[in-house]
Amino acid sequence: MPSKADIILGCQWGDEGKGRIVDLYAADYDVVARFGGGDNAGHSIVVGTQELALRIVPSAVMHPHVELFVGGGTVVNPQTLLGELEKLAAIGIDTARVKISDRAHVVLPHHVTRDAAAERERGSGAIGTTGRGIGPAYVDRVARDGTRFADIDDRAMLEDAARLAPHVVDGVEYIHERLNGGKRILLEGAQGSLLDVGYGTYPYVTSSHTIAGGACTGLGIGPGAIGRVIGVFKAYCTRVGAGPLPSELHDERGEQLRRQGGEFGTVTGRPRRCGWFDAVAARYAVALNGLTSAIVSKLDVLTGFERIGFVTGYRVDGRSARFRDAGASNLQVDVEELPGWSESIAGCRRIADLPAAARAYVRRIQEVLDVPVEMVSVGRERSQLAR
Ligand code: IMP
Ligand code: MG
Repeated sequence: MPSKADIILGCQWGDEGKGRIVDLYAADYDVVARFGGGDNAGHSIVVGTQELALRIVPSAVMHPHVELFVGGGTVVNPQTLLGELEKLAAIGIDTARVKISDRAHVVLPHHVTRDAAAERERGSGAIGTTGRGIGPAYVDRVARDGTRFADIDDRAMLEDAARLAPHVVDGVEYIHERLNGGKRILLEGAQGSLLDVGYGTYPYVTSSHTIAGGACTGLGIGPGAIGRVIGVFKAYCTRVGAGPLPSELHDERGEQLRRQGGEFGTVTGRPRRCGWFDAVAARYAVALNGLTSAIVSKLDVLTGFERIGFVTGYRVDGRSARFRDAGASNLQVDVEELPGWSESIAGCRRIADLPAAARAYVRRIQEVLDVPVEMVSVGRERSQLAR
């Protein structure tokens, strides 16, 4: 029987902590695949005292039995990938199982230059991109001027890409062989749903489809091949770069979230903007992705707040507004205040063991998402998860 592929993706503005969740879930899968984005992503996994930050290779490297696939919807900077493969090989990880779709596009030096130039041109309207050439690489793809891994030849500027040739496969055949062979496949999202080029806070978005639909186009599989869609929500909101963040806190509470959550970009080191959990944005993401369940990450970061804000509505000129109004200059948010907790939750391994206020907080999130919360993360370590 053909199998179905499950998806794990971020449902806010990225950095929801998907990497470590994928690392955990990967134990039960044969293949873990990326379907979009490139080295703008920064996925960290923590194993014991070791921290691994990956940008292109799927976050399942610690599981030797798992095949790692970089799908056709991605844009790959060969230097970044070669560097990652070297780093992994140096710590004894088998990298021969990393395969790249021949349909994936190559990020070239001129894409990086153009990314910086476009940002300068935008002036005060700059997006705050990661500067990795991601936008221009996707522009070239759509303009039909791009270079795919299938097109690598001996042009000098493609030397690095050519070194990846042993990893390049027919990406459509690769994934369908595994689906038809009944392999268990996990698809790893990059960035977050609210950075989706079509449905995010445009133009402050990335240049790819980060939502569940992007998994189909990014791998060349039909919607019927998708099984579970698991959304990761941070227990609060963060965003790196410019653009709407309706629940943003500009005071000491925002600072506290940044400090306690270690909210600095993995790729760029930029401080992330922080705010309360946003139920309007969250419900929108549930719809965009057709989520079947959710995971709440970094709940421990909220420990010590006496009261925790929870955005339940938007208003423009006193009238109720929707997510698509997130960028309105006179947007106001309705904030519900929930009681906090002060005791450490780092040791909790069952949701039932959380302090009553933390449990109530998770219940409130589940209520607005209207899908089951299957897990909560309570610390940085692999084992710090409560079910
Ligand atoms: P780009 O993807 O580099 O073009 O950046 C576009 C926007 O997406 C910027 O606001 C970036 O900060 C944001 N972004 C891109 N990748 C990530 C990510 O992996 N996590 C969080 N934000 C991201
Ligand atoms: Mg990240």
